[in-house]
Amino acid sequence: MLVKVSVIGLGYLGATHAVAMAELGHEVVGIEPDVRKLEALKSGILPFHEPGLDQALHNVLASGRITFQGEHDENSASADLHFICVGTPQLKGSDAADTSYVLAAAKALAPHLKPSAVVAGKSTVPVGTAAELQRVMTEVAGFDVNLVWNPEFLREGTALEDSLRPDRIVVGAWNDHSVDVIREAYAPILNLGTPFLVLDVPTAELVKVAANAFLATKISFINAMAEVAEVSGADAVALARAIGYDERIGNKFLRTGIGFGGGCLPKDIRGFMARAEELGVGSAVEFLKDVDAINLRRRDRVVALAKSELGDVRGKRVTMLGISFKPDSDDLRDSPALEISQRLAKEGAVVTVHDPVSLSALAERDPSLGREAELIEAVREADLVILGTEWKQYKVADPVLLGSLVATKTVIDGRNVLDVDSWQQAGWKVIALGRTIKNA
Ligand code: UDX
Repeated sequence: MLVKVSVIGLGYLGATHAVAMAELGHEVVGIEPDVRKLEALKSGILPFHEPGLDQALHNVLASGRITFQGEHDENSASADLHFICVGTPQLKGSDAADTSYVLAAAKALAPHLKPSAVVAGKSTVPVGTAAELQRVMTEVAGFDVNLVWNPEFLREGTALEDSLRPDRIVVGAWNDHSVDVIREAYAPILNLGTPFLVLDVPTAELVKVAANAFLATKISFINAMAEVAEVSGADAVALARAIGYDERIGNKFLRTGIGFGGGCLPKDIRGFMARAEELGVGSAVEFLKDVDAINLRRRDRVVALAKSELGDVRGKRVTMLGISFKPDSDDLRDSPALEISQRLAKEGAVVTVHDPVSLSALAERDPSLGREAELIEAVREADLVILGTEWKQYKVADPVLLGSLVATKTVIDGRNVLDVDSWQQAGWKVIALGRTIKNA
């Protein structure tokens, strides 16, 4: 059965979820107070880069199943299911997550709810937030509001696919009616045999943050091995491959390099530590401090390597290949490549950034860094090239051609994706994180 859905907050998560719900056949009202984002979406333009989502948005707009508006009205009030997808960024000056947007969204929604409606929280929140939202909404609405927690696990770059074909759907609920409505909303996905886990609410809140903490730990584990490899003549890439064959370990999320960034992993592990501290069990997740520190040390390592290659950094030309926190995204939040670029620029380097899709996001975020859309122009006369994001086009770039353009053929491969042999054959000195590479 189809349900009428509202999706509140149309960032990466909300916009993808709204389009996915419309693709499943539901009638969707997207609610976004930011006028710029709202107008873009209304005219079929995504305010961020996400492969395949723009075409899907175009299709569902044309089908008439999705509409966008700035605030609640009778139209959104008639929805059977409301998804809260607003952000929970890191609070300034603290590790904790800022839940004020979630709270504000819940308060604004409450007066518009019909008693049978279900509110599903999708934002990543500190455990215990749902109970507070339920209390606040019930107070405003004047009846017991049906709230569930329904975390989302989508990754940028594959967001729509992850939404339509997730590994599992998790819902934490206080009553059966809420679970029934959620089951109807996801019926086409559940019919594919997707595991459906009905949990208590605090567990559902914890699932997302626990999953992200585990993934961050796995990445930092291999990056810690990289630190050891760098001083012992070992190769962390080969090491990851060797341990990854053990099925208990697995080879995913063991790519060593400049580490994790983005709008989720870094702030989620910090928010988790802050919440655990509030709950009196800070020591249980204290190890995440190390996970964070190992991750940030990879950025220091690249800056140190760059300095040792360049000598006096001032006036030296550095080309950063890729600036987003991962490929297939223009998201610069906590991007390791961006931080490294900014630190080198601060020390006086002339940094030119190349990225297939993120240059306009960079112009907004930090216009002081040089931007060049043509790869060939970006590397011209460079004293050092750093690969910061593993966009496919860098992996297949011709080292002979690039070598003919730079001033000095030195590359730091921050993601361990370049074919070392062919780059060396083209005369490059190749430096890679976690590996001891013999250069001529
Ligand atoms: C993450 C979670 O994977 C997703 O489930 C959750 O919903 C949101 O947060 P995302 O931030 O989009 O998704 O990207 P992800 O693919 O997890 O990568 C995160 C960061 O880790 C990137 O900077 C990536 O470059 C880095 N990474 C990933 C590594 O450094 N090594 C790896 O092996 C894998």
